[in-house]
Parts: sequence; structure tokens; C-alpha cells
Amino acid sequence: MNKVLVLYTSPLPEEKSISTYIANKFLEEYKKTNPNDFIETLDLNNLSMANKSLNKDSFSSFWNEEDSDKFINQLKNINKLIISTAMINFNIPVTLKNYLDHICVANKTFSYKYSKKGDAIGLLTNVKVQIIATQGAPEDWYTWGLFTKYLEGTLNFLGMSVNKTILISGVKTSNYIQKTKEEIFEEFKNTIENQAKKF
Ligand SMILES: Cc1cc2nc3c(=O)[nH]c(=O)nc-3n(C[C@H](O)[C@H](O)[C@H](O)COP(=O)(O)O)c2cc1C
Repeated sequence: MNKVLVLYTSPLPEEKSISTYIANKFLEEYKKTNPNDFIETLDLNNLSMANKSLNKDSFSSFWNEEDSDKFINQLKNINKLIISTAMINFNIPVTLKNYLDHICVANKTFSYKYSKKGDAIGLLTNVKVQIIATQGAPEDWYTWGLFTKYLEGTLNFLGMSVNKTILISGVKTSNYIQKTKEEIFEEFKNTIENQAKKF
């Protein structure tokens, strides 16, 4: 039995969010192939730790048991992670950044200790991750804001095995702006369902 954690991170209301809808359709398909898995979901918008940012005032108490260790332990106890996200001002949503700031901790999720060349080794090698992302512009417009590459790289640094990201781009362009999330899903249905079956 797999233990799966799903992180929802879009700041848009659920009924409007394309990434949330696509992630739920992915999950629906995944469950057909893996009906006995244990699946836990977290909406980072509702999670206290994901709404706390790192700054001068918070620095000394930021990585505490409740906000940091608890979620690191959760990651150590799963084997699959699904992250649904969206490009917000050329980056990941701030709640996801806050989440990462809490779980990227030396000697807990990565370490320089046993590395021969001086580079780090990731300690979350138990986790396989699927990123499901959306962005308003086409993929090649904002090359300084390759948020999915940043996210893939960070999770890979932590030792996770990163699946090919499902990126639905250009949702604010004339090709998609009039379409509903259901219609957008239909267009990418085969890719989404195939990746869900194989995940
Ligand atoms: C506050 C805000 C900032 C956004 N910034 C960007 C951006 O920098 N680049 C981009 O391509 N799209 C941007 N978008 C568009 C979103 O990526 C797109 O609408 C996405 O579908 C929203 O997330 P969803 O998957 O939950 O629907 C932005 C949307 C919002 C609401």
C-alpha cells in the first residue's frame, strides 16, 4: 500500500482553480489503479505553517516542532507526493515557498555530511513526486520565471524522484481564456490519465 500526500497550493478559490481541478482528476484516475492506497490531502492555504514566512522576527523560532519537524516526518513516512500549483508573479505561490522553507532543513531533509564532492545529498529518497502546474502565459514567455524547473530542482535536491511535470500553460491566452476547467481537462485528458495510471 502506498502512502500518498497531496498538496494543493493555488491561491484561487477551489471552484475556479484549474490546477486543483486537474489534480483532482489525476487523483481520481490514480485511485482506480491504486484503490487501497492511503491518501492524505493538505491545502496549504489553510495550513498555519504555510502562512508563516521566514524573516528577521521569525528566524529564531521558525523551524519548530509543530511547523517544521511534523511536516518533515510526514514526508519521511510517505512514498508519493502530488503537488498541484500555479504560476503566481513568475513563481510558485507563497504558501508553497513557506512550506519549502520549513521542510528544507540541513541534516533532516538534505545533508552535506556524507557527500564526497562537497555537494549535498537529499534525504527524502523515499518520495516520488508528481507536479501538476498551470500558468497564464505560454511556457516559453517568461523564461526568467521557470517556476516548475525551480520546484523540480528543489525537490530533486531533497532526494525525491521527480516525474515529468504536467504543465498546462497559456490558460490566459485566447486559446483557453473562454474555456472552462472541464474543457481544458478534456484537452489534456490522455496525458493526465496516462501519467496517473503509471504514477
Ligand atoms: C495573482 C496572480 C498572479 C499571476 N501571475 C502570473 C504570472 O506571473 N505568469 C503567468 O503566466 N500567469 C500568472 N497568473 C495566471 C495563473 O498562473 C493562472 O491563471 C492559473 O491558472 C491560476 O491558477 P489555477 O491553476 O488555480 O487556476 C497569475 C494569476 C494570479 C491570480
